[in-house]
Amino acid sequence: MKIIETVPEMKIVRFKLKEPVGFVPTMGYLHKGHLSLVRKAKAENKSVVVSIYVNPTQFGPKEDLSKYPRDLQRDLAMLEKEGTEIVFFPSDKEMYPEGYDTWVTADKLTKPLEGDSRPTHFRGVTTIAAKLFNIVQPTNAYFGQKDAQQALVIKKMATDLNMDLEVIVCPTVREPDGLAMSSRNVYLNPEQRKSAPVLYKSLLLAKRLYAEGKKDTEKIRGEMAALIQKEPLANIEYISIANPATLEELQTIKKSALVSMAVKYGNTRLIDNMMLGE
Ligand code: PAF
Repeated sequence: MKIIETVPEMKIVRFKLKEPVGFVPTMGYLHKGHLSLVRKAKAENKSVVVSIYVNPTQFGPKEDLSKYPRDLQRDLAMLEKEGTEIVFFPSDKEMYPEGYDTWVTADKLTKPLEGDSRPTHFRGVTTIAAKLFNIVQPTNAYFGQKDAQQALVIKKMATDLNMDLEVIVCPTVREPDGLAMSSRNVYLNPEQRKSAPVLYKSLLLAKRLYAEGKKDTEKIRGEMAALIQKEPLANIEYISIANPATLEELQTIKKSALVSMAVKYGNTRLIDNMMLGE
């Protein structure tokens, strides 16, 4: 496994890799969710590149950039075990040299949900994703469904900007009690951690209500909120039932819906989602 820290070297090495090239962009502190993306990339490509880069531009001024968990040695050991060919581990100076001035922004898809709470977040995500795609030039790039809006926004960016790659979205990996795997779960104290599976429970409740024929989103959202509010440590930021392609809120579910949510435990913000219908 080769660890590459500069853009020019990454560009040179990339063209020596066997095609197709699978790419898994990460911010490190890897968990089983990331490894499921690496495994899928490994299964579908001849070479795999994983990037580890905590992208400062996707964090808001009051967010957890400096505290974001990091453990490079552990990450590298995990990636080596999975048979990763290349780890791209650039510095901030390498990605945003002095005078850096160009941004990639998606518009409508980035306004609701996460974009509403984190107004500068997606500009950072699309900018770094576009830069990484240009540097690595992957055939296929892998993202988790856990960040459903991010996956949708990156897919749209790749289509709209005629990027020559396939964006592949893989299922959320969960802890045995249903909590979606996330690097941020380490911020939860034991009481919060015990309570946090209520996000998934509320998604299962939505799934059950929908299966029973309930289509009115206000009612479904109400029942989900009531369940979450039974947990005194949980503070709901939003619960959304939206069109899975446009993210516009639905009043009634016709064919399908993306149910998504953000819930805060203290300063820790957890997100989760589930597709209903097709
Ligand atoms: O999902 C993440 O870890 C990040 O948002 C990504 C896609 C690696 C961009 O920094």
